[in-house]
Amino acid sequence: MNYRELTIGLFIATIFTACGGGSSSSHHQGQACLNCHGKDVQNSAPILSTAGTIYTLKTAIDGIDDIASGHNMQFLMSDASTISFRKGKGDGNINLKNLDKSGKFTAQVLDTDGNIVNQSNTDSHDTATHLNCNSCHTATSTQGRITN
Ligand code: HEC
Ligand code: HEC
Repeated sequence: MNYRELTIGLFIATIFTACGGGSSSSHHQGQACLNCHGKDVQNSAPILSTAGTIYTLKTAIDGIDDIASGHNMQFLMSDASTISFRKGKGDGNINLKNLDKSGKFTAQVLDTDGNIVNQSNTDSHDTATHLNCNSCHTATSTQGRITN
């Protein structure tokens, strides 16, 4: 995102926040989403199956700097089926509410046209252990952020 887009984005976000619309491009980007949205967590956050953030930079810090705006995620399951994510809440964030498949998958990053622009190693991720994406994909981990 360039400075101009960021400025416009922040401006729009400010208007929505000011109007109480609750719509904003900022929502805990980079944090481990399931720490609030996990099914065993007792709080006001709706339950999500999996969620994370896509950045443009491996070492991006938490927040909306270096967000891969408008990008999305899909799982290529080991049985060759694909599962599409929802965008949000917040720019660069992606999530799935009711994941109804389990097993090994390849995580694929999609650009704004739906083209696959980055992916994990084939079947290296597993629904049993890899759904809280940002818990491993931090600014300082070896693998770094999920990027476009
Ligand atoms: C500190 C706790 C917290 C963290 C961390 C957090 N959220 Fe949330 N989230 C909430 C709460 C509370 C709500 C409900 C109120 C609202 O919409 O703001 C919410 C709402 C949402 C919703 C709307 C749910 C729906 O189905 O209507 C989505 C989507 C979402 N969050 C995605 C994410 C993603 C993606 C991440 C990680 C980048 C994340 N959240 C991190 C607390 C959190
Ligand atoms: C338990 C730690 C862990 C979790 C949780 C995790 N990942 Fe990963 N991820 C890795 C590691 C390690 C790599 C590098 C090796 C590989 O490609 O599998 C990686 C690589 C990736 C890559 C390729 C990155 C690149 O630039 O080459 C993508 C895309 C990705 N993960 C997406 C995701 C998504 C989406 C989630 C959540 C659904 C997720 N990851 C959850 C550890 C994790």
